[in-house]
Amino acid sequence: MRQAGRILPEYRAIRNSLSGFKELVETPNLAAEVTIQPVDILGVDAAIIFSDILVIPEAMGLPYEMIEKKGPYFPKVISSAKDIEQVMVAEGPELQYVYDAISLTIKELDGRVPLIGFAGAPFTIFCYMIEGSGSKTFSKARKVIVQNPEMAHSLLEKITASTINYLKGQISAGVDLVQIFDSWAGILSPETYLEFGLKYIDKICEAIQGQVPVTVFAKGAHFSLGDLKSTRCDTVGLDWNIPVEYAREFFGNTKTLQGNLDPAVLYGSGKEIATETRKMMRSFEGCRHIANLGHGVYPDTKPEAVKTFIQTIKEYEYE
Ligand code: CP3
Repeated sequence: MRQAGRILPEYRAIRNSLSGFKELVETPNLAAEVTIQPVDILGVDAAIIFSDILVIPEAMGLPYEMIEKKGPYFPKVISSAKDIEQVMVAEGPELQYVYDAISLTIKELDGRVPLIGFAGAPFTIFCYMIEGSGSKTFSKARKVIVQNPEMAHSLLEKITASTINYLKGQISAGVDLVQIFDSWAGILSPETYLEFGLKYIDKICEAIQGQVPVTVFAKGAHFSLGDLKSTRCDTVGLDWNIPVEYAREFFGNTKTLQGNLDPAVLYGSGKEIATETRKMMRSFEGCRHIANLGHGVYPDTKPEAVKTFIQTIKEYEYE
């Protein structure tokens, strides 16, 4: 459950004592502390290292800023082939602060729950590097794909190489599983997503195959389930828009499925949350399943609602 921690007053207290989000990401002992908060307070069965997908563009030479209540902003973006030439492949040591946070977290978790590492998928990182902030359409990034596909591929290659180095660093530091977030997968057509999205995800899966399990979450890419099935990942994250039956038919037993309660359900009453959660659990019965939301927790979700969700899953009895 991405960003489960940020709804906690305990998280806000640490966050507000600092200059901003980045300071928290870059201070290993504090990053470790907020990574463990959801385990202690909410009772989740795994921790996800506190960081952000945007550390990769920064390690490649495009620093990000996190603007309060607005989201990410890049003062410098990619707008020409020359900009791409100047971008570096991150070798890994630039991100030592993340590896340090991972080592510290593992030490403090002391085997209680596994630790998940992560990175953004190359296409989603590409979107931010070109657009410079969030966008409804990421049309600037899509324009490059149409007008200059070679340029798009050369940037995607560099992002992919950086991400492989980065995930290998996280694995060396001890994460038990890695997850690849392709938040903007849903804006492409099936053909473009295969060529500019999944192809690079598969390269990452190939590079780390056999080391730790890999989860791919390609938000909104319902049109690409067939191609996702051929991707060398172990688990596929499902968002809440996808009918579980439909996904199960596609994947059969080839992948573990993760998801997929609508995070908006957590705005309901305790009873409604429990009912919907049980319904979700039932829909996955008989397949390998990691219970989760269909995307991150909304920032104004009440911690009690998340606890109800988790408790219902733990108490669920399979038929
Ligand atoms: O659960 C965790 O806390 C793990 C760490 C984590 C964060 N971001 C911390 C964070 C993870 C796995 C991410 C992934 C991430 N970051 C994605 C991919 C997943 C997805 O949501 O589709 C994306 C696209 C980003 C980029 C990003 N970071 C955005 C767009 C924003 C601002 C918008 C928002 O939702 O608040 C962030 C900020 C961010 N990253 C926060 C956290 C805890 C919120 C900062 C805060 O409120 O203190």
